[in-house]
Amino acid sequence: AQRDASVRIYPDKGTTTINKNLYGHFAEHLGSCIYGGLWVGPDSDIPNTQGYRTDVLEALKKLQVPVLRWPGGCFADEYHWMDGIGPKEQRPKMVNNNWGGTIEDNSFGTHEFLNLCELIGCEPYVSLNVGSGSVEEMAKWIEYMTSEGDSPMARLRRQNGRDKAWKVKYIGVGNESWGCGGSMRPEYYSDLYRRYSTYCRNYDGNQLFKVASGASDYDYNWTEVLMKNIGGRMDGISLHYYTVTGWDGSKGSATDFDPDDFYWTMGKCLEIEPVIQKHIQIMDKYDPKKNIALMVDEWGTWWDVEPGTNAGHLYQQNTMRDAFVAALTLNLFHKYCDRIQMTNIAQIVNVLQSVILTNGKKMLLTPTYHVFEMYKVHQDATWLPLDLICDQVKVRDDRTVPMLSVSASKDKAGKIHISLANVDLEQTEDVQIDLQGLQLKEVNGRILAGSNINAHNTFDQPHQVEPKEFKGAKIDKDGLLHVQMPAQSIVVLEVK
Ligand code: AHR
Repeated sequence: AQRDASVRIYPDKGTTTINKNLYGHFAEHLGSCIYGGLWVGPDSDIPNTQGYRTDVLEALKKLQVPVLRWPGGCFADEYHWMDGIGPKEQRPKMVNNNWGGTIEDNSFGTHEFLNLCELIGCEPYVSLNVGSGSVEEMAKWIEYMTSEGDSPMARLRRQNGRDKAWKVKYIGVGNESWGCGGSMRPEYYSDLYRRYSTYCRNYDGNQLFKVASGASDYDYNWTEVLMKNIGGRMDGISLHYYTVTGWDGSKGSATDFDPDDFYWTMGKCLEIEPVIQKHIQIMDKYDPKKNIALMVDEWGTWWDVEPGTNAGHLYQQNTMRDAFVAALTLNLFHKYCDRIQMTNIAQIVNVLQSVILTNGKKMLLTPTYHVFEMYKVHQDATWLPLDLICDQVKVRDDRTVPMLSVSASKDKAGKIHISLANVDLEQTEDVQIDLQGLQLKEVNGRILAGSNINAHNTFDQPHQVEPKEFKGAKIDKDGLLHVQMPAQSIVVLEVK
């Protein structure tokens, strides 16, 4: 069986850039994201580069990670940065109260994080402690990281082995301040934001981009109050949206699910669109010139942890279903790139919808990794408007899911990239793409498709799901592009 879809792309009507930071990541001190995932220490028998896992470093470089958020999440509002500097043996330990009561030895701190960003070539995005930290502590952290002069904190940094200040642009003034970040009401948080952010200073040419702790999915009042009371004092406001069945009880298995669950997941992930639209509408009211960015600094799937693992460590497998969530969500983010300037999938290694999983010496790349890798061609390209006509299907919880998702961009060299996802589990999608008379010379592409919806990579079989060359796209005599998308497949095309 086959479905038909048609797409019209406007190659000359693009006016906005897909900020590469839409492809951002997030690393929290949670489970084995940092310890075991990114960092094993220089004395480990796991091959490492100055303490960072070499295999993970290489995989992240290939992904072109543009920005990395750290140290949380909920952890950030209990983190005291001074515990994580200086000689390792003198660093105090703490209890990670949010995540399983694990003892945190602070061996990964400011230097280890900022040096990691330098190694993989990404921008750091540091979440500051507003929930349980003082203004003074926060102000000194910024001075420590970014001051070049003969200031007390710069001197302390030098004493700890780093002469030159780092460049830190993105800072988050608190995280989920309505919840784990302090259980605040928006009016109170707005005032705290104003106070804390006053002391976030720009040192020696370092220009901070200040992000206020924003709403959880459907909490529009939070955005309204912050826009009204903080306004232009913030450069960005965050938003968190998880594809999750609910917060009580089981969230469902990451690998064991049926077609009904699969389609429900697509519906829930696509619901981010009306959510984004409503937050943007409120922002437009107070900031019609779009000076304040929307930063979706946590998003992704949240399933039950892998059987037998610590419930507080959020270690979950990752299947083709997760790959579709990534593909559909990224296609959507592109559409709002005049307002959305950064997003960070949660989280980079071993936590929630990870791009990488590790187990001792072993590492695997998840289907979500492959989507990010295939889609990296969209980073900093011009978003192209398009019209799409395709079948829509009703799914559980009264949501409607279009069977095809498409996005297109034009890069600096003039190449057009089109990302498509056929979410239909059984039917091929015959897609006709009209590029408005553009002379097409060549098309090639890659496809990500598993043998079934539950397909995933394991440590014993790490190459089950990987991109392959795609031969199903042809340029017709009439100049149209014809694409035969197999059922449950994700394709990225390059058109010249
Ligand atoms: O990503 C896991 C957690 O989800 C983060 O720590 C928190 O900000 C959110 O609730």
